[in-house]
Amino acid sequence: MTTKTGTLYGIGVGPGDPELITLKALKVLQEVPHIFASCSTKNTYSLALSIVRCHLNGAGIEHLPFPMTKDPQVLASAWERNARRVLEVLATGRDAAFVTLGDPLTYSTFGYLLKTLKRLNPEVGIVTIPGITSYSAAAALTHIPLTEGEESFYLVSGALGAARLKEVIDKSDNIVILKTYRYFDEIYQVLADLDLLDRTTCISRCGLEGETIVENLRELKGRDLPYLSMIIIKKKGKGY
Ligand SMILES: C[S@@+](CC[C@H](N)C(=O)[O-])C[C@H]1O[C@@H](n2cnc3c(N)ncnc32)[C@H](O)[C@@H]1O
Repeated sequence: MTTKTGTLYGIGVGPGDPELITLKALKVLQEVPHIFASCSTKNTYSLALSIVRCHLNGAGIEHLPFPMTKDPQVLASAWERNARRVLEVLATGRDAAFVTLGDPLTYSTFGYLLKTLKRLNPEVGIVTIPGITSYSAAAALTHIPLTEGEESFYLVSGALGAARLKEVIDKSDNIVILKTYRYFDEIYQVLADLDLLDRTTCISRCGLEGETIVENLRELKGRDLPYLSMIIIKKKGKGY
């Protein structure tokens, strides 16, 4: 008798508030016997897991460590090791979930896991359950429409570098920059050069303890931002 292979659910848990999760995600999290959460190689903390912990029904929890490095070889071997571990659990016939912050296919570790799993086993059963992105929640919090009418919208990483960031800003009406924390000085300078500091809002730790909204970016000059920070730029202004 062959065991039916389990399914992996890639679950977006939203950006922080445990109520910003879909009913579908909640149902799966309460039914799967095994939950994977990524963490660094230094500790077992997972923000995604801490967001949904209050919803869990006793599923087994397993951390998948990922080294904080940009070395492609080290990263590839970590992905392979973690993907093989996921396949091992699915091979026992159990379903499993992999929890991720925000949406699983927006700047998320889940994207890499998905590709590695499919490469190792093209038949693997994967269901992705979308989550509320950090920038959707931040737009709601600040009452900033991300797009209206025929406007365009660009989502970028803060690691883009000044020249490319200027290019992107030039092309779009509305821009959201995620992963700002390490590059804030550079981003600040680009916004100052383009005279956009007054059309920019910085949101940190949206839906979490320590949530802050800064409308006047000048207040942040030279300051360190928390890891969970983003910038919303409305080139035409906020309109109110
Ligand atoms: C690796 S990306 C994850 C994006 C996530 N998958 C999403 O759908 O929004 C991490 C970046 O998302 C942003 N972010 C995620 N959660 C946030 C929150 N609660 N408040 C502010 N920014 C957040 C920050 O820019 C952070 O550096």
